[in-house]
Amino acid sequence: MKNLSYTVDDCSFIDFEFEKIQDNSFLIDPLQCNQNIPFEVKRMYYMYDIPQLMSRGGHGHKRLQQVVIPLQGSFSLQIDDGCKSREVHLSIPTIGFHFIPGIWREVYDFTPGALCLVLASEVYEERDYIRNYEEFLEYRLPAISDLARL
Ligand code: TYD
Repeated sequence: MKNLSYTVDDCSFIDFEFEKIQDNSFLIDPLQCNQNIPFEVKRMYYMYDIPQLMSRGGHGHKRLQQVVIPLQGSFSLQIDDGCKSREVHLSIPTIGFHFIPGIWREVYDFTPGALCLVLASEVYEERDYIRNYEEFLEYRLPAISDLARL
């Protein structure tokens, strides 16, 4: 049986600040798989030219892990495990956010010119998405009653 006992609190910020290299007047921040990125990266993509009022996401993933990094500007994330939700704001290019699988997310409040880098643990696969919130709750149902007791 799938282990569904995780919560939104298992998603976490990753601070790349201390690996930062200062080279004369500019900064370099190295990202390394299985080190400061907690998985093997199979895909990277970035979102840009995002209209300010646009909301992205509105889905969960069954297997995919992601690290989202606000390379420029800022945006907010609403994450939800079917029982508890949490809002986080990303605005510092050295602080990313790690999504474990099975978490519903919305991304919104993009500032003009925001640039969002996403590192992903899997190649693109539409069948890994859960795009309907009712289906997401059904997927999470075995865990929700346990989580509600915590
Ligand atoms: P989606 O993941 O739903 O975007 P968001 O999380 O920003 O709301 O993807 C939007 C569209 O782009 C969808 O039709 C799938 C397609 N897509 C790919 O073809 N490959 C990819 O790697 C990604 C991330 C999306």
